[in-house]
Amino acid sequence: MDRPGGFILWFTGMSGAGKSTLSTAVRRRLEGGHSVEVLDGDEVRTFLSRGLGFTRPDREENVRRIGYVARVLARHRVAVISAAISPYRESRDEVRRLATEAGIPFIEVYAQASLEALVQRDVKGLYKKALAGEIPHFTGISDPYEPPGAPEVTVRTDAETVEAGVERILATLRERKLTA
Ligand code: PPS
Repeated sequence: MDRPGGFILWFTGMSGAGKSTLSTAVRRRLEGGHSVEVLDGDEVRTFLSRGLGFTRPDREENVRRIGYVARVLARHRVAVISAAISPYRESRDEVRRLATEAGIPFIEVYAQASLEALVQRDVKGLYKKALAGEIPHFTGISDPYEPPGAPEVTVRTDAETVEAGVERILATLRERKLTA
């Protein structure tokens, strides 16, 4: 394969649904053949979107910024992986539109798990707090999550292994001739 081109692999899904786990695993598989950059929600909020909260306008702004950085990187042949909740369909579709207009392939991956599974897992203890009313605007509890209408890949993280999900993501990238 010639030097591979850039693309944006955009994860969306609720807190704890496995976006970071999947993106780390996909990154490992792509490294070697690609320059890979993961734009992870928590890190982005520390360095790029510091000061933004979780209201709709703030989340939209966060996603807009991630989309911009992702396009800049992808233009330089980086395989960009974004792992933010990105709960609003309109915002995600806007990032897709801008990427597509710039000739950058955009692959949306829905990390899906039932709310019951997420509450039960509660890795960061955030659902417990949100259910107790201690976190305003918490996605899936007191704030909306709009699932994608036609994601390229859906990974049921409450029903399949990380490895199985990663294989399907890689298969999609291969089908699109984005990776070898
Ligand atoms: S968004 O909606 O895309 O702007 O969100 P994101 O930048 O991915 O940030 C999500 C992480 O912030 C923590 N957190 C919250 N999540 C959802 N709702 C509220 N109110 C909230 N407050 C803090 C949480 O740890 C998210 O991390 P992940 O990795 O998704 O669990």
